[in-house]
Amino acid sequence: MKLRFKILLFASSLLLAVIVLVSVFIYWGERRFIIQNAYQEQETIEQGVMQLVRESMLLRDDLLLLKYIRFSLERYPGIVYIAIIDKEKNIIAHSDPDYWKKKYEPKMSGLWKKGQQVRVVRQPIYLGNVLRGEQEIGFSLAYLGQQINRQLMQIFRRIVLAALIAFGLGLAGAFFLANQIVRPIMKLAGAAELIGQGKLDTRISVVGKDELAFLSKEFNRMAEQLNELEKMKEDFVSSVTHELRSPLGAIETYLNLMLERPEELSEHGYEYLIRLKNNTARLANFINDLLDVSRIERGGLVIRRNYFAITPMLEDVLRFFRVPAEKKGIQLISQIAPDLPQIYGDVERLRQVVVNLISNALKFSPESSVIILGAGTSGENLLVWVKDSGPGVPPEHQGKIFDKFYQVVGPDTSIQKGTGLGLAIARGIVESHGGKIWIESPPKDQTTGSCFYFSLPLNPAGI
Ligand SMILES: Nc1ncnc2c1ncn2[C@@H]1O[C@H](COP(=O)(O)OP(=O)(O)OP(=O)(O)O)[C@@H](O)[C@H]1O
Ligand SMILES: [Mg+2]
Repeated sequence: MKLRFKILLFASSLLLAVIVLVSVFIYWGERRFIIQNAYQEQETIEQGVMQLVRESMLLRDDLLLLKYIRFSLERYPGIVYIAIIDKEKNIIAHSDPDYWKKKYEPKMSGLWKKGQQVRVVRQPIYLGNVLRGEQEIGFSLAYLGQQINRQLMQIFRRIVLAALIAFGLGLAGAFFLANQIVRPIMKLAGAAELIGQGKLDTRISVVGKDELAFLSKEFNRMAEQLNELEKMKEDFVSSVTHELRSPLGAIETYLNLMLERPEELSEHGYEYLIRLKNNTARLANFINDLLDVSRIERGGLVIRRNYFAITPMLEDVLRFFRVPAEKKGIQLISQIAPDLPQIYGDVERLRQVVVNLISNALKFSPESSVIILGAGTSGENLLVWVKDSGPGVPPEHQGKIFDKFYQVVGPDTSIQKGTGLGLAIARGIVESHGGKIWIESPPKDQTTGSCFYFSLPLNPAGI
């Protein structure tokens, strides 16, 4: 799961929990308040009715009492009935004429209107200090419930709206926060990937003073040190190879001189010298390759450009490999297109590329197979390819075989080992000509093997 999503998920769950809790808390508080208010309102109504009853009793006007009762009933829709009872328990006035002049019985309470649930409130009526009877009011519980529910519904809607707005704002905030955290981490990850690819000049801009800024600063310091180490290593390799090159040259010269006079050597001596010469040549090749790689890395590879025809050079390389190919029973096939245009480049360096590709193909091809060297044009480029039917290169290695010292460890250990520098040099040479080199494995028209391509611009920029 991505970090941004994790932060969002965590923040939104937390937000949701807090909002729900606060909403429930507010809702219950409001509910208590509304219920209290409703009962208080009923109390006020009671006092109001009592006032009117007392007034009409003082005036001893029974008709007025009845009028007031009716008036109260119309004015306050929550009232189901009003009954006024004297001290002798006679009903002296009632909102329902059926009960007039009847004897009051406790079982009558709350049952005045059948089918309606009623809250009965009873209060003594005093005129001065004299008790004159009782007032009983039946409030409709359904009406009370409706009133409370209506208000609760309003509160509920407001809470939901506020919660939605709060959640939306919170989510936007969490998104912003997640971005603030994730963006520098992504930048760091991108930079680490570039460093991993060997681009040691990569640096990150340090913004702010928080932990991520500290991490970026430390990352830059690490990259700086890696860069310095890499430079030291390159300097070391370059000076060591230079130092090795001169004495090795002298050894080769003396060996050649000695081999020119075989008559002065014993039979074993001659054989040993030949072996010495072969090994010295291998060592010299390795040192030359190392020197080339170090030149490429420092941008110091000298390219001596000239216009030249590529076909003779390619045919020359084919001729050179004919004998070693025959030894392995391998057929070298040329698919060089006729009338190729001239190339502006370093013929010797490009020959080195083709030699390397064919020597790889020879090294990895099974006996009695076919290797094709092809050349043609493709748009504004010259395309050269070397195709074999060897084991090929698995996709996960294809991006790395052009790195120095990278070799694929295959099951066939009989294949003579190289140094892993050939393709790195080939890439360096092709790229310094403004071209590209790549592999297709297996090639489109085969099920096994590999095809190495390189392309060179026919009209290089700036010429
Ligand atoms: N034609 C090929 N078929 C299969 N694998 C190949 C082929 N060409 C290159 N490779 C793989 O790529 C690796 C790198 O090749 P590269 O030419 O750089 O090094 P090398 O041939 O091992 O050594 P060097 O060329 O320095 O003697 C090889 O070790 C091999 O694993
Ligand atoms: Mg090679």
